[in-house]
Amino acid sequence: MSDPFWYKDAIIYEVHVRGFADSNADGIGDFPGLTEKLPYLHDLGVTCLWLLPFYPSPLRDDGYDIADYTAINPIYGTLDDFRRFVDAAHALQIRVLTELVINHTSDQHPWFLESRSSRDNPKRDWYVWREGREGDPPNNWLSVFGGAAWSLDYNTGQWYRHTYLREQPDLNWRNPELVEAMLDVVRFWMDQGVDGFRVDAAHQMMKDPEERDNPPAPDDYQRPWKDMAEYDSFIHIYDYGHPDVHEAHRRFQEVVDSYGRDAMTIGEVHLFDLPEWASYYGPELDELSMPFNFHLMASDWDPPSLRATIEAVLWHLPPGAWTNWTLGNHDEIRLATRLPKGHERLAALLLLTLPGTPFLYYGDELGMEQTLIPADRARDPWGFNVSSLGRDGARTPMQWAPGPGSGFTTPWVTPWLPLGERSDTVNVEHESGDPGSVLNMYRRLLAIRLGSPALRQGTFMADPASDEQTLAYRRETDDEGMTVVINFADVSNRVAIEHGFVVFSTLDPNREGEVTGSISLEPHEGVILSRLAPGTTGKQPPD
Ligand code: GLC
Ligand code: CA
Repeated sequence: MSDPFWYKDAIIYEVHVRGFADSNADGIGDFPGLTEKLPYLHDLGVTCLWLLPFYPSPLRDDGYDIADYTAINPIYGTLDDFRRFVDAAHALQIRVLTELVINHTSDQHPWFLESRSSRDNPKRDWYVWREGREGDPPNNWLSVFGGAAWSLDYNTGQWYRHTYLREQPDLNWRNPELVEAMLDVVRFWMDQGVDGFRVDAAHQMMKDPEERDNPPAPDDYQRPWKDMAEYDSFIHIYDYGHPDVHEAHRRFQEVVDSYGRDAMTIGEVHLFDLPEWASYYGPELDELSMPFNFHLMASDWDPPSLRATIEAVLWHLPPGAWTNWTLGNHDEIRLATRLPKGHERLAALLLLTLPGTPFLYYGDELGMEQTLIPADRARDPWGFNVSSLGRDGARTPMQWAPGPGSGFTTPWVTPWLPLGERSDTVNVEHESGDPGSVLNMYRRLLAIRLGSPALRQGTFMADPASDEQTLAYRRETDDEGMTVVINFADVSNRVAIEHGFVVFSTLDPNREGEVTGSISLEPHEGVILSRLAPGTTGKQPPD
């Protein structure tokens, strides 16, 4: 599988071991369960998996609070189970990315237990310890999850910094010993055969060395799609992304590259200033293989806004750089709930036809919706977790079959989070039998992308048919041309298209035929047209 740019052709699927398949009837997904389900992912067309954290952890933040970087949480299995999983995935040509949570550990990590034990402990400086300001925190920085980004340790009388929960103390990336210890973590997982990493909070770990206060934000300042009122009451100038963050990523990449094994890194860079975001590729493309591209998720959901977003991202890519697209993940509201009804199909079409690696979130291929989690079942500590919009609601178990347990776990076992409300119909078994289901639409779409060089690596150009209601674009290589036409309107629409052959419709699995002059689309229907008649290949005569 040697190919340094394999990820350009990949279709990546985000999955949580905890939520996928439970093999031993304890209500918790595990590695043997996930391994058993690999054929499903292979048949779907997925070529790479990104696994959420599966390390030993008190699970205060679903495993993003790591207590041991180089082991498997026993509730998910053993290191041998992990190796068997990686081997089985590789045998199916599926690559595996694991999660590197480098900004912070759990407060139960032995490093932190040592660090907090006394002011002169050798690991004191592995974390960020400061004096308070007359009984108050060292500065006004806030935790992403609410409250101050500092907590007082009564024992030693100093404050430690935490970008997230107080149970997630920040590591001190300006301590060379800590950096070496983290590079060893990278080596450990490379030695286990992984194909790369998703780097958590990749822009967070370097902050202003002078630790200046952030200025207050104007009243109307708010992030594009998420209500984080307290955090957004300041402009975040000093508490992320100090320029030396780039050096840290170069160090990482060097270790990854030293294996000569085509591993890749994708960093969670939650930034919306495009030049700043793009700087995480590095001046020589020597930092992250790609910063995660959340711009589609933040865009208004209408054709002109989406077109502007897509073009802006592509224009800002450094020469030679490659991007990715995503519309759902474990931190966001399920896309079938977030988008207008029926638009989850349009989202799939968009993701799988843009120039950049698509990242899919498990269960979105079924149209799984946000689930209302009762307060007594909530797991996520982030403030709004008891509402339907909390993160738990997007993390419910994968739905395999109708009936209790939904094929995720044994029928009489209570799964770690409740099942989705419509799990009797929104599941793999039921949808497999329905040609028009969301699942079968995904299967067709993935197959088309995997079979089309133009959709994977062709140029991107907006088509003149784009307007207020229609998003239309072309993807082309020398030999192949595809046109994507998406009707966002609630009414049917006739769209001017010179010529092509329908090879895909989001609604009608049997739609086909030659189009000349215009095509008629149903309310929120999207299609792919090929310049070539189906079944033919090779160079086309010039227009
Ligand atoms: C990232 C993860 C999120 C987690 C946070 C803290 O944003 O995606 O799930 O809570 O980091 O580790
Ligand atoms: Ca289990």
